[in-house]
Amino acid sequence: MVSALADEQFIITTIDLFEAGAETTSNTLEFAFFYLMDNPEVQEKVYEEISRVVGKDRLPTIADKAELVDNEDHKIILYFNTL
Ligand code: HEM
Repeated sequence: MVSALADEQFIITTIDLFEAGAETTSNTLEFAFFYLMDNPEVQEKVYEEISRVVGKDRLPTIADKAELVDNEDHKIILYFNTL
């Protein structure tokens, strides 16, 4: 009985995480890509920053996030902080 409840709780929790994570992540990425399409000057800055900090020879890591700040203002990191 205890293990049946544990199995059911595990399944429900997994569904909760999937439902909470899927639409929110998809909507945030959709917003970000439409925003970049509509604002090519921001897209250019983001591209320059990622090229400078991460480069093209490796994948980004969470440690790169601290360096991904636009020096003129902090707009870019603010736009993408939710990601
Ligand atoms: C960009 C993507 C995401 C956004 C914008 C987002 C946004 C939010 C917000 C605003 C809340 C608080 C809701 C409230 O308290 O009224 C929340 C809670 C939660 N999110 Fe997300 N979320 C995102 C991604 C994810 C992912 C990927 C997962 C799971 C893998 C997840 C799981 C949860 C869970 C379980 C809660 C409830 C936490 C609690 O009540 O203690 N979210 N999310």
